[in-house]
Amino acid sequence: MSEIEKDHVAVRDMAWRIHDELSRERATAEDLAGLLEAFRNRIEAHFGLEERRWSGSQDSIRDRTTENWVRALVHEHRDIERRIGEILSRLNAEKEARRTPSAPVVSAIRRLVDDLCTHELSETKLFQRLVFEGA
Ligand SMILES: [Fe+2]
Ligand SMILES: [Fe+2]
Repeated sequence: MSEIEKDHVAVRDMAWRIHDELSRERATAEDLAGLLEAFRNRIEAHFGLEERRWSGSQDSIRDRTTENWVRALVHEHRDIERRIGEILSRLNAEKEARRTPSAPVVSAIRRLVDDLCTHELSETKLFQRLVFEGA
């Protein structure tokens, strides 16, 4: 398994752990803040690795569709990072006042994990396009 594949597995595992923690319903704001903090570090390293790979392969084999696709993925990276930061701020504020996170924060975490899965799927499709179609 390549470095990037291992990284994808690690990111997916962490996303599922967060998902499981939310299903537990008794997860505390503090537990979730800890998990999300670790997730933020993991995801920033992962996004950095991907972006270095994408910028390293910028040559004539890339067509316009691929270029736009990569640009959109990078945009999604910034969006996901921003949202993790916002959720962490809200969780940290809540954990002082209440044991369990509020419903809007739980929904925001669920949406984040879902959107990250969609993002990862889009990357898989891009990779298939590059490998099998030679785009
Ligand atoms: Fe990505
Ligand atoms: Fe990825």
